[in-house]
Amino acid sequence: MIIVFGSIALDIVQLVPRLPRPGETILTADYVMLPGGKGANQALAAARAGGDVSFVASVGDDNFGQRALNNLELAGVDLSNIIERTRPTACATISVDSSGENQIVVSSGANLETTADQLEPEAGDFVLQQMEIPLAEVWRGIECAKANGAKCILNAAPFQAIPPEFLGQLDVLIVNEIEAQMLADSLDLRGEELSSVCAQIQDRYDITVVLTLGANGALAFSNEERLQVNVLPVCAIDTVGAGDAFVGAFVAAMSRQFTLDECMAWGTVAGGLACTKPGAQDGIPETAAIRSRLDEIQVSHVG
Ligand code: RIB
Repeated sequence: MIIVFGSIALDIVQLVPRLPRPGETILTADYVMLPGGKGANQALAAARAGGDVSFVASVGDDNFGQRALNNLELAGVDLSNIIERTRPTACATISVDSSGENQIVVSSGANLETTADQLEPEAGDFVLQQMEIPLAEVWRGIECAKANGAKCILNAAPFQAIPPEFLGQLDVLIVNEIEAQMLADSLDLRGEELSSVCAQIQDRYDITVVLTLGANGALAFSNEERLQVNVLPVCAIDTVGAGDAFVGAFVAAMSRQFTLDECMAWGTVAGGLACTKPGAQDGIPETAAIRSRLDEIQVSHVG
């Protein structure tokens, strides 16, 4: 079982000619309200990639909560550990400009009331977390996963410093370039190439580190191997949620005992396909769509 412990939100997406400067008002014609939140997106990606998924999170007693849960319900994700809280369901305002560049503000609402007391992992489970709920609960989530014999995967997004004692308890850490840079700064590894930072973190904490590089593919560093993966060639129209699609499909592959090569390929295809439709969840692919593009991914062993 994959247990995704994290955030859920309703995304209000506005297409703007350009992103506003501080203090500036920009007019735009329409907007759409779509399910989102990094935790929910990753839970959906894991389920669509064939994983058996339970999502542990909080919503408000409101219409946003129902709308935000809709896709997860349809995908058959177990929602029995979702709690209705006093704060409203989180909402993210996402502005996307004509070049696809985006700006996101998340009002956390009920995500702030999510607690690791909701978690009930068992030995052999995969607990997947991000950093959109209170940090103390992320750390408790790691401890709870490890104490119960579950594998622990952290997508350090949006980045906040990770104390070494928790880094060392992870099985897999997944970061993008910005997060890897911030991680390097927080660990006093400034000025080094990001690939060297990730290799050092892998070695120092004995964990697998995955570095996603957007249009340049991805790298993985484990005890046994270093891998480089090309990007899936797609016509990208919206990158919001692409990282979540990568993470969810990667963990779905892990839960099926796939090799690290295969997990990277599944994540890469899912992340690429997610960019071909607007919104965080509409582009998240099903298993068949992922399988049909796997032969376009080359995984090279480097170093
Ligand atoms: O990763 C994309 C997500 O980040 C969006 O769905 C938005 O809710 C923000 O949390």
